[in-house]
Amino acid sequence: MGESMTGLKRSHMCCNVNETLVGESVTVMGWVQRRRDLGQLIFIALRDRTGLVQVVVDQTADSDLFAKAESVRSEYVLAVKGKVALRTEGNINPNMKTGKIEIIADELRVLSESETPPFQVEDSVSAKDDLRLKYRYIDLRRPSILKNIIMRHNVVQSVRSFLNGENFLEIETPIMGKSTPEGARDYLVPSRVYPGTFYGLPQSPQLYKQLLMVSGMDRYYQIAKCFRDEDLRADRQPEFTQIDMELSFIDIDEIIDINERLIQKVWKDTLGVDIPVPFKRMTYAEGMERFGSDKPDLRFGMELKNISELVRGTEFVVFKSALDMGGSVRAINANGCSKFPRKQIDSLVEFVKTYQAKGLAWINYTESGEIKSPIAKFFTDEKIKEILDFMEAKPGDLVLICADKDKVVFDALGALRCELAKRLELTRSDDYNFLWITEFPMLEWDEEENRYVAVHHPFTAPMDEDLELLDTDPGKVRAKAYDIVLNGVELGGGSIRIHRNDIQKKMFSLIGLSEESAQERFGFLLDAFKYGVPPHGGLAFGLDRMVMLMAGATSIRDVMAFPKVKDASCPLTGAPDVVDEIQLHELAIMFEEKEENE
Ligand code: AMO
Ligand code: AMP
Repeated sequence: MGESMTGLKRSHMCCNVNETLVGESVTVMGWVQRRRDLGQLIFIALRDRTGLVQVVVDQTADSDLFAKAESVRSEYVLAVKGKVALRTEGNINPNMKTGKIEIIADELRVLSESETPPFQVEDSVSAKDDLRLKYRYIDLRRPSILKNIIMRHNVVQSVRSFLNGENFLEIETPIMGKSTPEGARDYLVPSRVYPGTFYGLPQSPQLYKQLLMVSGMDRYYQIAKCFRDEDLRADRQPEFTQIDMELSFIDIDEIIDINERLIQKVWKDTLGVDIPVPFKRMTYAEGMERFGSDKPDLRFGMELKNISELVRGTEFVVFKSALDMGGSVRAINANGCSKFPRKQIDSLVEFVKTYQAKGLAWINYTESGEIKSPIAKFFTDEKIKEILDFMEAKPGDLVLICADKDKVVFDALGALRCELAKRLELTRSDDYNFLWITEFPMLEWDEEENRYVAVHHPFTAPMDEDLELLDTDPGKVRAKAYDIVLNGVELGGGSIRIHRNDIQKKMFSLIGLSEESAQERFGFLLDAFKYGVPPHGGLAFGLDRMVMLMAGATSIRDVMAFPKVKDASCPLTGAPDVVDEIQLHELAIMFEEKEENE
């Protein structure tokens, strides 16, 4: 039950009531944050999207009004009309934007009541994630989440304003398209008209945006919903949003320049932070060699060093076998970590094992200059000294060593340096360190599928310098691809596209697509390229990741209104869910019973 608001019109949002309005009558509407009874007086903190304002109800003024105020509880929705007054000296709340004033109510209506919410609408109150997401509409009332949603809005407005100014057209592309899986699995939508056929939801607007370049749109952008059926992580959702763009007659430097200026504007508009340009650039090869990663976090050091040549020919069988199979031995110097207790070091060993490393050797150079190491017995004192010198280790440092195939060593030590930075609290989330990674390999050998796969996507152009390698050594070909990295997170990526049919065909054949299946899957694109295709390229940012990093959040869930949980389900609506028999029948869909253990 609730009273009507007829005859009352909101005059101010809660936080816009201020000292300049003292003596005037205002009307505010919102939710009850809390009620405090002080005998003759009742204080109600009223909340809307902008924040809180204090309402005072005085028994001596009107006893009916007072009785109504006594009945309100948390999350009731009220309309309050009253006079703005300065608070007395002792009642000023410096932590509240409206802390100097209060509204002396002369009318109060309960527009709707609320059951006791499953958790309090306060940032300090912890509630389990599942509960928060089941009642997401209440969770979204919390200031910290609300702040992120508002920031997301501001980011999108700033992006639009920038790209409009750079002569981009905002164009929508279909959600129901042709399934062309590459990388992740597609989500499928069954067709009623052609039973047994399916639309695929786009993993990105990639193909459409290239077609738009063939159409002569010149510069396109879209705030695009993308769908990928892959395992969820803190920075991965099955449904997410890209700031997607494509440009014609463009080279890498121009794309980089435009996007650096875009970042500059978004950070300035949204956070008031000046981001210096140009950003650093690093080749993929350098990123791996120095940081073991194609998305290195440059806010701290502890770079990887290759000690293979130093330890080649020594007796330690673990190092020997890694080198014999063409791998490497690499190390990082964890500065000042010699004081780590043994348990902590053991946990680092366990940590690298989650990255397929078989172990982690360490040399502890104690403050007093002693050397403690489980591998010391395999080396001469001189050799250990040589390693420590090479690693620029000083007393108090801890050198951590991994030997394996390059890929494993890079993965393990790359992740280990980030883990150490986390444990040592070396980074700040408001220290924004941007970086471009360039010259990605075009192809990567997939052990399981026993074929090359495209590292970015199969429309990415090879570097001109490497064209000849396409025939002789395709694994060595570098691509005109680039990623933008912020604080160790891949924020976006893109490439210059192949616009020559012969190279596109070669690319398809290199990734094991026969001419027939290439034509079947991507024929429409190959056909389009026969009718005048401009050289083109583009990039897509993960909007969710961008806002997450700007908000200092640790998961993209915190910047999405209605995110999904780990198994890609929605605790709020219960999606995915069974549908009516009739719907299935219309779609000619039947299910096979699966054995429990299948
Ligand atoms: P890519 O696949 O690298 O490129 O995606 C671009 C960016 O989108 C974000 N992203 C995600 N965010 C949240 N959840 C996910 N599951 C997810 N997957 C990707 C990342 C990523 O950097 N069409 C190309 C772009 C191009 O070449 O122009 C593409 O989609 O921040
Ligand atoms: P072991 O002789 O197997 O007990 O190993 C001796 C030391 O080498 C231990 O500290 C192991 O953690 C470490 N170790 C084992 N495998 C590796 C590896 N692949 N790289 C680096 N160190 C390793």
